Amino acid sequence: MLDILRRRRSIRRFAEKEIEAEKIAALKEAILRAPTSRGLNSWEFIFVDDRELLHRLAQARRHGSAFLAGAKLAVVVAADPERCDVWIEDCAIAAIVLQLAAVSLGLDSCWAQIRLREHDERTGAGDYVRRLLGLPERFQVACVIGIGYAAEQKESHARDSLPWDRIHDNRYRGE
Ligand SMILES: Cc1cc2nc3c(=O)[nH]c(=O)nc-3n(C[C@H](O)[C@H](O)[C@H](O)COP(=O)(O)O)c2cc1C
Repeated sequence: MLDILRRRRSIRRFAEKEIEAEKIAALKEAILRAPTSRGLNSWEFIFVDDRELLHRLAQARRHGSAFLAGAKLAVVVAADPERCDVWIEDCAIAAIVLQLAAVSLGLDSCWAQIRLREHDERTGAGDYVRRLLGLPERFQVACVIGIGYAAEQKESHARDSLPWDRIHDNRYRGE
């Protein structure tokens, strides 16, 4: 697991190579294995590989989601807040489980934030994605994870560059 964490970087440029069906099946299993509060599984996942839909997902935000157009797969992470009060945590955990599973399969990914972001002056990014994919109004969209084979190389974050000062032993050490 530490090796996977070391390899994970946000990749926004993807190769033309398609993702094998068995890898997509493994990603589906992985995301469903994410833990959820009280085991309520408040989330829903939409696996999008349709090119036209990927291009339209990329337009969810003016900045920050354009890379989805080049992804081979986008996983939309949404939830019904009525199912669980901590649906945001459920969604975030599922998203990172998916990203780490992708690395374990030789794939790379990047997170596009949707919740609390705008599509344009009048429409929230979540409403845009919901309408695009036919999600009923009771659902909130947390994020979209774009996945594919990397077409850019990024070094692992050096161990020395990690923010070690954010770790406190027993008590907060202050500024
Ligand atoms: C909650 C969250 C929201 C993010 N939103 C976006 C986003 O909207 N667009 C984007 O390109 N990257 C997004 N990222 C990726 C971060 O920019 C990236 O993880 C960070 O810069 C560190 O780089 P690394 O992932 O390569 O270590 C997001 C990451 C997280 C965890």
